[in-house]
Amino acid sequence: MEFLRHVVVLVHLVGFAILFGAWVVEAVNGKRRFTRLMDWGLAIAGVAGLILAAPWGIEYDLNYVKIGVKLVILLVIGALLGIGRARQRKTDALPAAMFWAVGVLTFTNAALAVLWR
Ligand code: HEM
Repeated sequence: MEFLRHVVVLVHLVGFAILFGAWVVEAVNGKRRFTRLMDWGLAIAGVAGLILAAPWGIEYDLNYVKIGVKLVILLVIGALLGIGRARQRKTDALPAAMFWAVGVLTFTNAALAVLWR
């Protein structure tokens, strides 16, 4: 059970890597667009996160306040990606604030996961 949980944590981290990696590529190449890869990363991190939110394969109590905060942040990132991609399609432009918010919120979720014990 513990090994299986670690596998799900690994999948969760792959989702984070895809989402944040795709965002960093756009930040560095100067295009600053939302891409499909970001949606995939968010979906993978979200599904694995929900599986990890259940107390299995561990002997300690989960921090449900932290998990709740992470879930709210994930929903905000999802809303930003959804609205931003619709705007990109219609107007061919993405507000800079929306683009930067996704990077900052993704980084915030990873920081909460690692630093808030
Ligand atoms: C963009 C969204 C997210 C990011 C970037 C993220 C990032 C991370 C990272 C980096 C870890 C590893 C921490 C460590 O092992 O020290 C982690 C663990 C975890 N995450 Fe997330 N996460 C996200 C969303 C979620 C969501 C939505 C949930 C639940 C609703 C969640 C639940 C968990 C749980 C329970 C763990 C601990 C796993 C364990 O040690 O057993 N995460 N997350």
